[in-house]
Amino acid sequence: MPVLDILGPTAGRTAPPSAPALPTRSETRILPMPPLEWNEQVANETAHLYARVKTVIPEIEWPFFAPYVKAINALKKERNAVILAHNYQTPEIYNCVADFVGDSLQLAREATRVDADVIVQCGVHFMAETSKILNPEKTVLIPDSKAGCSLASSITGEDVRLLRARFPGVPVVAYVNTSADVKAEVDICCTSSNALQVVESLPGDTVIFVPDQYLANYVAGQTSKKIIAWKGACEVHERFTGEELRRFREDDPTIQIIAHPECPPDVIAEADFTGSTAHMIDWVRAKRPKRIVMVTECSMADNVQAELPDVEFVRPCNLCPHMKRITLPKILDSLVYMKEEVVIDPAIAERARRSVERMVNLKS
Ligand code: 13P
Ligand code: SF4
Repeated sequence: MPVLDILGPTAGRTAPPSAPALPTRSETRILPMPPLEWNEQVANETAHLYARVKTVIPEIEWPFFAPYVKAINALKKERNAVILAHNYQTPEIYNCVADFVGDSLQLAREATRVDADVIVQCGVHFMAETSKILNPEKTVLIPDSKAGCSLASSITGEDVRLLRARFPGVPVVAYVNTSADVKAEVDICCTSSNALQVVESLPGDTVIFVPDQYLANYVAGQTSKKIIAWKGACEVHERFTGEELRRFREDDPTIQIIAHPECPPDVIAEADFTGSTAHMIDWVRAKRPKRIVMVTECSMADNVQAELPDVEFVRPCNLCPHMKRITLPKILDSLVYMKEEVVIDPAIAERARRSVERMVNLKS
C-alpha cells in the first residue's frame, strides 16, 4: 500500500536540541582529572583492548586513545556508571569503553535493566532522553548535548497536535528519533527494527507515522494499512542513491549490499537486505560475505570490521555529524564533572514514558 499523504516542513533539520531548561538534580561532586600520559604501564593495561581494534585503529594512534580508555574505565567504577553506546560510535568507544552496544531498540531495552546510578549515553540526544524517560530516578549524561538528529529536529509536539486535529481518531506512531515533547503526544513509539510490528499492532486501517518519510514508505510497502507520513529525513541516509549502488554492482556483480530503512526507496530497491543497524550486523555475522557495502553511517563498518577481519567492507563513507560529537575526551569530562545531565520536565516525561513503554513491552 503506497503512502497516503506526506505532510510537514523539513525546516530546521540540523538545529540542535534545546539546552535543558530545568535545574539539574545530579551529584555535582567533581573528581580529579586522571593523568593522561602514555607509558609502558598504560600500554600493558590496555593491550587486551587494543587487540579488539587493531584492524581499524593504526598502532601509531593508540597512544592517544589508551590513556583516555584507561581513565574512563576506572571512573565508571568510581561513579557506578555504565556506558550505553550506539552502533555508530567510533571503534575506540564501541569496543573499548562501552558496557553495552546496540541499535536504538536494544539500547532502550537495556536502559530498563540498568542497575548503575549513572548512565552515560554515547549516541545522540534523543537516545539519552529515551534512557532518562525510562529511568527518571537515575542520572543520565550525554557527553555533548548538541548531538542532535535531523529527524528529531524536523517535528515538534505542536506539529503532532495539529496532525491529530486534522485526522481525528487516527493513531500516531513516532519513530524513536524524536524529542520527549513529541513522544509525549503520540500513542506509541517504534524503532527501525519493530516499525512494521508497531504499525500492525494499532487499531483501524490508517496510521499517522512521524517523522521519517522513508521509514514510513518502507513500512507502507509491507502493510495493508494506509500510512500518513511526515516529511522528515535522516541527513546521512538520504544522501545515498540507487545510482551509486548500481555502480558498485557493475564493478563487482558478487558484492552484497545491505541498507538501513532510513534510506530513500531507490536505495532500498537495490539492497539484498534492509534492516536496523543491529539487524544489519546480525546479517553480516550470519552470511559472512566476501565483499559488502553497508549503506548506513560509516563508523558501523569499522566496528563490524574489527570483529570480522575477513569480510571486505566497501565504504561509501557518510558520517553522522551528531554521532561524531561524542569523543573519548568528552566522555571523560562527563564522568569527571557529571555533565551534561539530561533533564526532562516530569509531566512531559511521564506521558512520553507511556509511548516508549508500549513499544518496549510489545512482544516480538
Ligand atoms: P537503529 O535503531 O537502526 O540503530 O537506527 C538509529 C539511527 O539513528 C539510524 O540512523
Ligand atoms: Fe539522526 Fe541520521 Fe544521525 Fe541517525 S544517522 S542520528 S537518523 S541524523
